[in-house]
Amino acid sequence: MEKPVPWAGFLIFDIHLKRHMEKKKIDFELLIYENINELSQNDQELLEKAKAAMGNAYAPYSKFKVGAAVLLENGEVVIGSNQENASYPSGLCAERVAVFHAGAEYPGVAIISVAIIASSSLHEVAIPAAPCGNCRQSIIEYEQKQKSSISILMGVPNGPVYKCASMSDILPLAFNSSFLSDS
Ligand code: THU
Repeated sequence: MEKPVPWAGFLIFDIHLKRHMEKKKIDFELLIYENINELSQNDQELLEKAKAAMGNAYAPYSKFKVGAAVLLENGEVVIGSNQENASYPSGLCAERVAVFHAGAEYPGVAIISVAIIASSSLHEVAIPAAPCGNCRQSIIEYEQKQKSSISILMGVPNGPVYKCASMSDILPLAFNSSFLSDS
């Protein structure tokens, strides 16, 4: 009697999976403005507030200063800037300082937009720095909580401005609370 080939089953399973594989392309719209003057009045004002907040950054280690301004649905603007620490991981990014500040001061008030701007005293930052992964995850939590999108404006003092309509645009397939329960 012929001996069964132990891996044959896996091979068939693999081919089967491949035959039914679905390819999905995820893309998003990024608006690129040549400079801050091309923005709407409201967006310009928000980015200017982020720029002012950048002045309060405490970044003695990286020399990379970031400012963030959060526009709430009640019209209030809450700011934040990066706050570093001699124990590096204890520091926090501007975006999280700002959105956590907003959540603490105005619980339950939806966030409309977050403007972010960065500069370095070591070199010229020519294009907008997009939020780090931790900040994307933190901001998307608020999108899910409030069930509405938060637009993200990213700028540099003398250069282009990027805008996307939702944090989920730049954090597709995000982890969220739905994975933690079956309800
Ligand atoms: N930083 C922010 O504030 N936001 C980001 O999205 C990226 C990085 C800060 C953290 C740290 O103080 C410095 O920039 C260099 O990483």
